[in-house]
Amino acid sequence: MDYKLEIAKLISIDDVSLEEILAMVTPAKDTTVADWAFPCFKFAKALRKAPVVIANDIVSAIVKPDFIASIESVNGYVNFKLSKLNYVKGVMDTALLAKAGYGDSTVGEGKTVCIDYSSINIAKPFHMGHLSATVIGASLYRIYKKLGYNVVGINHLGDWGTQFGKLIVAFKMWGDKEDVNARGINSLLEIYVKFHKVAEEKPELNDEARAWFKKIEDGNEEAMALFLWFKEVTLKDVAKIYDRLHVTFDSYNGESFYNDKMQPVLDELEQKGLTKISEGATIVEFPNEEMTPCLVKRADGATLYATRDMAAAFYRKNTYDFYKCLYVVAYQQNLHFKQLFKVIDMMGHEWSKDMVHVPFGMVSIEGGKLSSRGGNVVFVEDVLDNAKARALEIINEKNAELDNKENVAEMIGTGAVVFGVLTGNRIKDISFSYDRVLNFDGETGPYVQYTYARCNSLIEKIATNSSEMDYSTLEKPEAYELIKLIDRYPDVLVDASIKYEPSMVTRHLLAIAGQFNKFYIEQNISNSPDGEKNARLAVVNIVRDIIGGGMSLLGIECPVKM
Ligand code: ARG
Repeated sequence: MDYKLEIAKLISIDDVSLEEILAMVTPAKDTTVADWAFPCFKFAKALRKAPVVIANDIVSAIVKPDFIASIESVNGYVNFKLSKLNYVKGVMDTALLAKAGYGDSTVGEGKTVCIDYSSINIAKPFHMGHLSATVIGASLYRIYKKLGYNVVGINHLGDWGTQFGKLIVAFKMWGDKEDVNARGINSLLEIYVKFHKVAEEKPELNDEARAWFKKIEDGNEEAMALFLWFKEVTLKDVAKIYDRLHVTFDSYNGESFYNDKMQPVLDELEQKGLTKISEGATIVEFPNEEMTPCLVKRADGATLYATRDMAAAFYRKNTYDFYKCLYVVAYQQNLHFKQLFKVIDMMGHEWSKDMVHVPFGMVSIEGGKLSSRGGNVVFVEDVLDNAKARALEIINEKNAELDNKENVAEMIGTGAVVFGVLTGNRIKDISFSYDRVLNFDGETGPYVQYTYARCNSLIEKIATNSSEMDYSTLEKPEAYELIKLIDRYPDVLVDASIKYEPSMVTRHLLAIAGQFNKFYIEQNISNSPDGEKNARLAVVNIVRDIIGGGMSLLGIECPVKM
């Protein structure tokens, strides 16, 4: 039931539309006094009446319906208190009927959202920045799907640039095919790092690298074969990480895909008089110098990251006719996306307003060893492995008898990392600590997973002999607060989609888990009369489904037992 709307319909003021009234109905600040309030101050002038009088008039004109417990005029507000029982019934019936589909929506019907996320670089480490890009993007993907949107997940691979020429030179000098096949990215990375060291002494290697990249561009057979193989090796390697994170993509069209799709964009820019030649390079300047010019072609004719992103934007618009195109990329690239969107706007394409940069902050790791592989890059695989190992230690301390320990440790460890990345507002930098994300009593993944397991064990253990249902027991504060959180869940999903903020879901799950644990302590479920027991068990079922479903939106699995 849409209480806000139903309440708005009860209120009538001369010459004021339902829409206007609806916009003024607000959740009450002090929920002990009222659930909804309607302030009358705005109408005083037009009606030439004091707000208190307007509120009195409104109250006396309303015939109180069943869903409302009381209506009062207080200091220029009309306060509405809902009938608790009616409200509880409404929320419970809706959630019980929907089961796992609770929160599903049709708001997205007929609209396509493209999400560019993860977008890793070939033959480079999958580092913590890519972890955020991956898990934020993948949760948005699932949230939009749940809301009925058609979603296209795109891994815009960084698979173009002179580094591939360097890699070929390095591979030809020191590479070992067997080793690359066996150790994947690590092996490629080693020779790549070595290339840079050696090239300091022998700069001519850089010329060789450029020549090899040129061969890739020209489609030379040997160069292409190596390039494609590097890509294959990388993708095979990262597939393991994507599996652990439960992440998939609909397209892996990366930078190289746009190699032959840039010329039309460059032509259009030139036709529209937007380009300028500066020291041999082609640039686009912005009105009033609001930003540094965007370089689209270097003096040597080479195109750039930005040029390929322009081609990609047109490709996506033409192929998917997107309603929105999101780019989940670190805030370091703010300028790049501002330039990209502005250039397309200057070309006169109104859909440039539908492209959104969804930036996020940096993740650093507190204390603890970072990487066994040296360097100061933190590899996601190492982080997941470490978290899993610690989760296993904790299981061995707390519940050594548990079945399937390895599996559960993976769910808890990886889940804790993902949940940690998705807890705060995405734009905030995160300083990550294993102890914090794995604290079973903190605002963590394991805490929510534990609540899920507790729901399962209650459902398994407690039986009743009748189908009697006494919802009035859920009017007690600890249950009633939980009912309100359950009621809000579908709205939270919509809010998260509007703000591109999966953390709204994460935090709502924390609130539900926290309130559930109060409810569980206060209401002795096993020792209550059947009617109450059934009502409470129904709450347990709903909470379990919301937590299970909500965590899977975040890409986190919940063990049945832990
Ligand atoms: N590969 C880039 C990086 O790792 C991110 C690409 C983001 N997507 C895009 N369309 N520019 O920094």
